[in-house]
Amino acid sequence: MSRELLNFTRGVPAAESFPIAEFSRAAQKAVKEYGTTILQYGKSFGFAPLVAWIADWMGVETDHVLTGNGSLNLIEFLGYHFIEPGDTVFVEVPTYDRTITLLHRHQANIVGIPLKADGADLDALERELAKNTPKFFYTIPDFQNPSGATYSLEKRQRLVELAETYGFWLLEDAPYRPLRYRGEAQPSLFELNPNRVLHMLSFSKLIGPGPRVGFVVGNADVIRAVAKIAEDTYIAPSLLSQGIVFEYLNAGHLPAQIEKLKALYAPRLDATLAALDKHLPDAQYTRPDGGFFLSVTLPEGITTEALRPVAREQFALNLASGQAFFPNGGGERFLRLPYCAMTPDQLDDGVARLAEAVVALR
Ligand SMILES: Cc1ncc(COP(=O)(O)O)c(C=O)c1O
Repeated sequence: MSRELLNFTRGVPAAESFPIAEFSRAAQKAVKEYGTTILQYGKSFGFAPLVAWIADWMGVETDHVLTGNGSLNLIEFLGYHFIEPGDTVFVEVPTYDRTITLLHRHQANIVGIPLKADGADLDALERELAKNTPKFFYTIPDFQNPSGATYSLEKRQRLVELAETYGFWLLEDAPYRPLRYRGEAQPSLFELNPNRVLHMLSFSKLIGPGPRVGFVVGNADVIRAVAKIAEDTYIAPSLLSQGIVFEYLNAGHLPAQIEKLKALYAPRLDATLAALDKHLPDAQYTRPDGGFFLSVTLPEGITTEALRPVAREQFALNLASGQAFFPNGGGERFLRLPYCAMTPDQLDDGVARLAEAVVALR
């Protein structure tokens, strides 16, 4: 009998995490109560009650909030606002591959700042700042995609100081921030300096990616300018989705949903770490306290590209390329392990197969 194919490829939520019953009730109520608004065109800022709910959640005025069809969509619009071809932007290395794709589309000059387990190497950042001030630094301070790294408080404080001193924006992308399984939460960059930070969050990893609802909060002038770009692109985001998400949030479901997610995902992270300790002790890997990912640096002499076909063909294990997360080359031994959509048994099995593939390649 052939083995079940296991996928360590995409960072998708677990199907069993979706709040189907609550969401269908929210959908019914939203269409009934706000049908004439949410089946109509509207403002590019989004469905006003949702904008107000987010403003209250984030502790800002409503003119500091822009919603969009997912946060990736907003990264695209922020790119139109900030970047002229050839402009410099900084990113962590590694970083989220789809943001790299969008920055390339905007013809940005992408400068990578090496990432450590406690956040970006800020000495390296200062050396780059001495050469060039970027339009923005794109950062994922909490449970980073793809590495799992989280910034220490000291690095958060120094980073916002640098942004202030040198005069650049911090684009803080925080979809995993609410999913902390242990340890103490650190302030967001936005909380430390709302004048220099545009903070993005998404309901994709909290409710589900299907509704495509994300948002950015920050400086009202930037928000207004980006909202105009959004209007010129699609008039308004999906108000139908936003009405349902609003109704779900307004019914008070989010805190319990987040607790449910933590209870589901924390054992999956633990199972992955235990499996790595057991099966792959000579690899290096991050030990995150939350989020969707951890990352492995494969043992010396083993590249991810050489490993992938062996893992797929001999061990029924799909692995993602590591190099897509490195905008300027590198990452030959980098492997991202998304652990949320697999059970603890599958994770143990997957890591055991990974270790067997490494042995087969030696
Ligand atoms: C860091 C980061 N930003 C943005 C996104 C995209 O989120 P959304 O579904 O809100 O577009 C993801 C999704 O994986 C992500 O990991």
